[in-house]
Amino acid sequence: MGTNLLPVSAQQTTDPATESKIESLIKKMTLEEKIGMIHGNSSFTSTGVARLGIPELMTSDGPHGVRPEHGRDWVLDNKGDDSSTYLPVGITLASTWNPEMGYASGSVLGSEANYRGKDVILGPGINIMRTPLNGRNFEYMSEDPYLISKMVVGYIKGVQDQGVSASLKHYMGNNQEINRSGINVEMSERALREIYLPGFKAAVVEGGVNTVMGSYNRFRGEYCTYNDYLINKILKGEWGFQGLVMSDWGAIHSTKEALLGGADLEMGTDLEMLPNPDYSKFFFADAALRMVRGGEIAESVIDDKVRRILRVMYKTHMFDKRPSGTYATKEHADVARKIAEEGIILLKNKGNVLPLDKKTIKTIAVIGANGNRTNGMGGGSSQVRTKYEITPLKGLQNLCGNSVGITYEQGYTIARNAQADPKLIQQAVDAAKKADVAIVVGGWTHGYDYSVWSDNAYDTEGFDKPDMNMPFGQDELIRAVIKANPNTIVVLYGGGPIDIDTWVNEAKGILQVGYPGMEGGTALAEILFGVVNPSGKLTVTFPKHLEDSPAHKLGEYPGDSINVHYNEDIFVGYRYFDTYKVEPQFAFGHGLSYTSFKYSKPVVVTSTGSASVKISVQNTGTRQGAEVVQLYVRDLKSSLKRPVKELKAFNKVFLNAGESKEIEFNLDKSAFSYYDDKQNQWVLEPGKFDILIGSSSSDIRTKNRIKL
Ligand code: NOJ
Repeated sequence: MGTNLLPVSAQQTTDPATESKIESLIKKMTLEEKIGMIHGNSSFTSTGVARLGIPELMTSDGPHGVRPEHGRDWVLDNKGDDSSTYLPVGITLASTWNPEMGYASGSVLGSEANYRGKDVILGPGINIMRTPLNGRNFEYMSEDPYLISKMVVGYIKGVQDQGVSASLKHYMGNNQEINRSGINVEMSERALREIYLPGFKAAVVEGGVNTVMGSYNRFRGEYCTYNDYLINKILKGEWGFQGLVMSDWGAIHSTKEALLGGADLEMGTDLEMLPNPDYSKFFFADAALRMVRGGEIAESVIDDKVRRILRVMYKTHMFDKRPSGTYATKEHADVARKIAEEGIILLKNKGNVLPLDKKTIKTIAVIGANGNRTNGMGGGSSQVRTKYEITPLKGLQNLCGNSVGITYEQGYTIARNAQADPKLIQQAVDAAKKADVAIVVGGWTHGYDYSVWSDNAYDTEGFDKPDMNMPFGQDELIRAVIKANPNTIVVLYGGGPIDIDTWVNEAKGILQVGYPGMEGGTALAEILFGVVNPSGKLTVTFPKHLEDSPAHKLGEYPGDSINVHYNEDIFVGYRYFDTYKVEPQFAFGHGLSYTSFKYSKPVVVTSTGSASVKISVQNTGTRQGAEVVQLYVRDLKSSLKRPVKELKAFNKVFLNAGESKEIEFNLDKSAFSYYDDKQNQWVLEPGKFDILIGSSSSDIRTKNRIKL
């Protein structure tokens, strides 16, 4: 499994020899057989045609590990041997800002999916983080379309180079879980093109993804899964997508519209049908058959869907022998650890409280329910029954052995509406007082399973967070611990921002870990003790308070249950905070290191509509480290209002102490253009642009002005 290379995978091309095999198969099929292929026949399979050697298409969740086995009809079969590698989730993966980690993660996933007989792995999820409250932000990558595009292409190639298909989801505008089945998203064409589509486009055009999953919601009045504009015009038309569009589970609500609107495969299990589901009742089953027989739908419409399904099958060697994958290996766990090491973010390090020194630290008080909690089975459909999971407590114990005394106090209780518990806080305070350093592990938490979603529904499919406040009385706990021991480090779990304003100034050290996978505790301990130098960067702005973030500021979340208007338009995330001068708690792209980096003055050479930028970066500290050099572009004057800066390139550079490297960015016209909805096209308006290069969106180290 190569983790260093990003090979050019098959894009959306078709090969004539395969196409003619597909046509001859279609000619041999009866209409009933074709209809069978375009709808599910169990919770995760479509129907095959045994007589012609066409297998079922076997799908499985999810984006950061192969989900536990289901029986044919939904219920987890619990027969064992389905414990896979639990990789860091989407937000943590993207926090590495390293596309090679995207490839590595995809390779593990693809290899394990393959081993377990899956043909399609239902990921990656790449919806834009429009609001901090979205219950699925943890699965997603970022608020920034450029960063998503770079990470997702690597991921998809990683999966598909293992011979199976990725499924890009949820196309499109599924940016909240509240009312997800049907809420109608309204946004400008400019916001669509500049913010919400680029990640999907890159995945299709550059990543060559084989399957796309339509989302539950509507867009401009039509369900996304069969939205003529999104599917027929943009995805299959403009981007030339040749693969198949499947519905999210139960996302199809009509037959004719959906058949014509571009959906190819209807998936889902009507839970009300259990234990005896009748798949002939699906919209793409008997009803579709009747429509074709009655002449309401041309058979060629069905043929096109079958053709797309067969194309994916040929591409992924379902008719010949697919090379076999491997499963839950040490090598895969090492990849999970490596991603966590690069994805954990050091947000604050006052007085260099970190890294801890084993020579001087003799006692540690680990505090907080998240410190001793596993997360693999949490969050909904992306659950992973992991072979093992190293919690923060275990990670510290493993790293320190007997050389450091480690105590553990729960500090707070994870339960619905749980408040600060004076007894637990007192125990935590007593432990903190006795220790050289206190490490509070808190933040958001997953529901463990579908059945307990409503008990602690944070970072969970199907629910958004009720607000951005720390749940379970954690603010009180953290304030008390900091008072008891000034050397307190706070570790935040979770899918994005949380309001830490009541104690942020007092805490010396703060880390954001997302959900860092089965080796997360190992990676965290290594970072706390400086075995690994942190290099993760935020992929989403941390606002001070929820109401500072644009959709909330405008009152445009979660909509009125029928419609949600994205009136903040293109001003999502840092594009809003920077342009409207709202100071965030931590800026997009922020993340500290134990070493320091010096940026040279860049050399910029321009030609028509493009620029190349060379800059050297030096590690000026005493230890090895990695810097994510971020390049933002600012248009000084434009006919349409533009954000004061937008990410257009980045490069993660690994440097030994004292070492310098020169890096080069090549910016084409897409780096300088905006989408003009009046002309319906991208426009590069000649004029002056600033090239801003720095360590985060708010820490610009050097800039150059150019004229194009
Ligand atoms: C619904 C989720 O939205 C989707 O992400 C998942 O892949 C399917 N269910 C299948 O479990």
